[in-house]
Amino acid sequence: MNLDQLRERIAAIEGEVSAAATGATRADDLRAAENRILGKEGSLTALISGIKAFPAAERGQVGKVVNEAKLRVKALFEARLTELQSADAAREHTDAQAFDPTLPGVAAPMGSVHPVTAVQWEVERLFERLGFTVEAGPEMESEYNNFEALNIPATHPARDMQDTFWLTNGCVLRTHTSPVQHRSMKKFGPPLRVIAPGRCFRYETLDASHENTFHQIEGLVIDRDIGLPHLIAMAKMLLSEVMKREVELRVRPGFFPFVEPGIEIDMNCRICEGRGCATCKQRGWIEILPAGMVHPHVLRAGGIDPDQWSGFAFGLGLTRLAMMKFGIGDIRVLNAGDLRAIVSPMRMGGPILQGTKP
Ligand code: FA5
Repeated sequence: MNLDQLRERIAAIEGEVSAAATGATRADDLRAAENRILGKEGSLTALISGIKAFPAAERGQVGKVVNEAKLRVKALFEARLTELQSADAAREHTDAQAFDPTLPGVAAPMGSVHPVTAVQWEVERLFERLGFTVEAGPEMESEYNNFEALNIPATHPARDMQDTFWLTNGCVLRTHTSPVQHRSMKKFGPPLRVIAPGRCFRYETLDASHENTFHQIEGLVIDRDIGLPHLIAMAKMLLSEVMKREVELRVRPGFFPFVEPGIEIDMNCRICEGRGCATCKQRGWIEILPAGMVHPHVLRAGGIDPDQWSGFAFGLGLTRLAMMKFGIGDIRVLNAGDLRAIVSPMRMGGPILQGTKP
């Protein structure tokens, strides 16, 4: 290559540089072009390396021509790069403004309502329509409220019916929701209509229908001339409403010190449709709603005159009712955090999780 050819080559490279500078819309594009010209393998860098190939007498002038070209090219790149960097920054700012932080977020996928909660809400709505108040009692309860106020003195063998978790402070984890009967009598006086859903605890041997932590809904009606027929009619209405079909009931005598007379209301087992299975202990019936007429001692303990007022009470096995409604054959899945128990029952198909263990 002679000096004239070198000048032509430099002119071509500078043409390429100005085309790149004009065409680039982002700083990164221009940096890539700069690398093609001035980088290690760049076209102008190659000319600089070629200086030594010229005769010694010409090298001074060749070097001057090439270095001046390099300075021009560098200056052009730098000027345009500054412009493009500020354009980039302005664009980013506009993009940031396009983000509206006040818009509602995208909802994360949610779980669904636990079957027991779903039935609890359904029962609450039903009773609220009938003029009942929904009450809540504490899960840590005094011995008096859990037992004595319900006509179960310390020496009474009925205490053994409910295996109890005793706490070191002398209280108990309530074994049933019945203490809310006493609390409600004290709170409202007669007449009253109350339901009280909540968790109960018993030191139980677990099986398909027994948990150590389960839910009940207590019901209490105190008024004048209240009798067993009201109770049985209400039980039939309640269970049929929840099951969305007419439920067959079985009523038999039952003993609870806080009612007289006491009854057990069983419903036909939905898991086996009455044929017998592990859930109903092969009986075809599920104990679901023990109940009775409130014992005069209990009324008196609640400050209510049994000669003036009568009433009925029941203790619905809410967890078991949820099992019947959703076809869950084993109570243990409900406390096990097993998503199949939470999601599948909502499909409301036939028996699900029949006899499965967590
Ligand atoms: C009672 O707890 C009484 N307080 C019910 C009552 C209230 C009777 C008012 C009369 C008047 P029982 O121990 O049977 O009764 O329990 C009531 C219901 O809770 C049972 O029918 C059953 O459905 C449910 N249940 C009892 N123990 C368990 C358990 N370990 N796991 C799951 N459900 C249970």
